[in-house]
Amino acid sequence: MTHPIPNFQSIVNRTPGNYRRGIGNRRLRQNPHVRDLTRQVTVSHKELIQALFVVEGITEKESIPGIPGTFRDTPDSLLHQIEADLEAGVTKFILFGVPGPTFKDNHNFNFDFTANQIETIKKRFGDDLWLSVDVCLCASTTHGHCGVLNDAGDHVINPETVESLAKMGLAYAQAGADCVAPSDMMDGRVSAIRQALDENSLGRTMIMSYSAKFSSRFYGPFRVACDSAPDATIKLTDRATYQLDYTRPQDALLCSWRDYEEGADILMVKPVVHYLDILKTLTDEIPAPFAVYYVSGEHACVEASAEKGLIDAAQGHVEAWHAMKRAGANMIITYGARYGKKWLEE
Ligand code: PBG
Repeated sequence: MTHPIPNFQSIVNRTPGNYRRGIGNRRLRQNPHVRDLTRQVTVSHKELIQALFVVEGITEKESIPGIPGTFRDTPDSLLHQIEADLEAGVTKFILFGVPGPTFKDNHNFNFDFTANQIETIKKRFGDDLWLSVDVCLCASTTHGHCGVLNDAGDHVINPETVESLAKMGLAYAQAGADCVAPSDMMDGRVSAIRQALDENSLGRTMIMSYSAKFSSRFYGPFRVACDSAPDATIKLTDRATYQLDYTRPQDALLCSWRDYEEGADILMVKPVVHYLDILKTLTDEIPAPFAVYYVSGEHACVEASAEKGLIDAAQGHVEAWHAMKRAGANMIITYGARYGKKWLEE
């Protein structure tokens, strides 16, 4: 008889007790009580972070195709949403501010809209919640890129972009964000933001860096939510020149070490479902807390299958969360966080 596990037969031969225990531990799976007692990996709703979108210039909240239960909120509906979330046991959030179309610009950015929302949220809810805020220019530019482009529109100018990102991070931290989260994938932005924070007595504000963020097809619903899909009429049609290439896992390691050394407190792998190998390697190698972003398209795959009656959405998301924890994640950004407590109890 052959076994798929190397040396399995020799282990069995040497330890006859395994026969009495039942080689596959079936006795330990026979009811929910013993399964509870023998878990190696658990997920708590306290480890989940809910994404919030607040949009300038809309009068009613709007749903987002593919991610039911998450909305493009107005400043007002956002506060109601957070209230409901706190009641449902959600205490950690990541906020995306979306300036209205007339407030977009490609060089001179104004961060007041999102800063005002942060201030209002923190005044109202204070330390009842932990608020991280996404730092990126993609929702602020008319072309949808995460940075400032050169005149020919064929590449992002790194230094000018980093300067704006540092101003953005500082504005959000001054408004009261507990954590700023650069998602742009420019070089050197973590140290620029850290320096801006430290020089302005904001040494306690954390940085969660999207350190291993890949150029992915799974961001579709998010770009609708943030009105940030790259303009197809300019030369640079996608984000492949600044986001990581999924054929190069080494870059995930390099960028994560770099961001850690530049002062990031929390690192991130994004997307995650198709990148669990990278998450495992990074969490084995780098002694930092790791977040994962279970992105909109990944979430939508499960939701779309459920809509067709093929799988149960809640159970599908819960299974995915466990895979992320197993591969080393400390925390999970997920559109299902607001149902986490309920789903994990079921
Ligand atoms: C970029 C950013 C993206 C997401 C969050 N911030 C991706 C992108 O547009 O390239 C994706 C999140 C998701 O898909 O859920 N600023």
